[in-house]
Amino acid sequence: MKIMVIGGGGREHAIIRKIRENPAVEEIYALPGNGGIAGDAVCVNIGAKDIPAIVQFAGETGIDYAVVAPDDPLVLGCVDALEEKGIPCFGPRRNAAIIEGSKVFSKNLMKKYGIPTAAYEVFDDPQAALRYLESAPIPTVVKADGLALGKGVTVAMTREEARNAVREIMEDRKFGDSGSRIVIEEYLEGPEVSVLSFTDGETIVPMVSSMDHKRALDGDLGPNTGGMGTIAPNPFYTEAVAGECMEKIFLPTIRAMKAEGREFRGCLYFGLMITADGPKVIEYNCRFGDPETQVVLPLLESDLLTVMQAVTAGKLKDCPVRFRNGAACCVILASAGYPGKYDKGAEITIPESVRDHVYVAGAALKEGRLVTSGGRVLGVTATADTLGEAVREAYALAGRVTFDNCFYRRDIGRRALSV
Ligand code: AMP
Ligand code: GLY
Repeated sequence: MKIMVIGGGGREHAIIRKIRENPAVEEIYALPGNGGIAGDAVCVNIGAKDIPAIVQFAGETGIDYAVVAPDDPLVLGCVDALEEKGIPCFGPRRNAAIIEGSKVFSKNLMKKYGIPTAAYEVFDDPQAALRYLESAPIPTVVKADGLALGKGVTVAMTREEARNAVREIMEDRKFGDSGSRIVIEEYLEGPEVSVLSFTDGETIVPMVSSMDHKRALDGDLGPNTGGMGTIAPNPFYTEAVAGECMEKIFLPTIRAMKAEGREFRGCLYFGLMITADGPKVIEYNCRFGDPETQVVLPLLESDLLTVMQAVTAGKLKDCPVRFRNGAACCVILASAGYPGKYDKGAEITIPESVRDHVYVAGAALKEGRLVTSGGRVLGVTATADTLGEAVREAYALAGRVTFDNCFYRRDIGRRALSV
């Protein structure tokens, strides 16, 4: 089989490594991939949002199955376009990807179907939003409606911060049209849990839970990032919480999408907060999380491609999905300065014995050498019987990877280990 994976980050690298385990796979193409992925797939220089070029490549190459991993192409309808050409895909169609593509849509869906989430108001007029903020409870949370490279959310600890967020999103159009509407919502407190799931629209199978570490610096300080490390499973996601999530959140969500004529097939990601009133949805993503995937897939015992194809065929009910016992930890190695300005072009050295643990996110090949090309450069994942061992091992491996101005958090997993 010829497989095509759209995207070019650490998440895609983890997906590709796992798909390669299937003996029926002859070749994997990554569009666009990256310098590290090039060791595991044929990288093709087509951007993840260039849907006409993706469809043309798939037709010319005789692709048998496609995995669309990032949010942008999913929201833009990449799966619809490939399916029209008869290419089966893993990922939701455009009308279902809206669950991530529009926060107004997802909040209204949750309200309509009684799915627990933060109370909220929607605004399309900045003046009305600013008036509302005069008496809104503080802290509050301001969210751009559309995709904003993961930066559209401001948790405002003061009224002034909230007002600034409204002005930046709606008046300065910091995120373009994604900010023509906003959601202002109740501030929730509690540990956060990420749950990725496989769903074919009827059946939903949660994967092992995980915990992201979004802030740049140790102790959850510093600016928000795309994620500086993950662990799985998440100790706050107890069996009781899992049961409550299945009954009040997971099943109601896929049923709601189906009832709306927006059947979701693919990986549905639940960003949850375990509040004193029970689990609530912070966000939905229509895709695998990054860097959650880098700890979840290494724990998947079942064959990923088989599970994905069962999702596409609407036969997930008949497909066993097993995770191994044990734990995983992924430490992200970033370029100093990230998420602000950072240097590129530093040569990366990865010892042979560490290579299988590395998922490359932001690196390019320059004259045959791997050099940094992004803020988050790579993730180092270890699995072990216990979380403590996985964390120790991930750091031991990370310490053997070198590039100039490399920085990483030293406390990934610490909070989880203290539970
Ligand atoms: P998102 O971009 O939707 O992943 O949101 C980024 C982060 O903002 C989340 O991981 C939470 O830590 C935080 N956040 C989002 N919504 C809320 C909320 N209603 N209350 C408190 N924190 C929130
Ligand atoms: N790690 C959060 C996300 O993928 O959106």
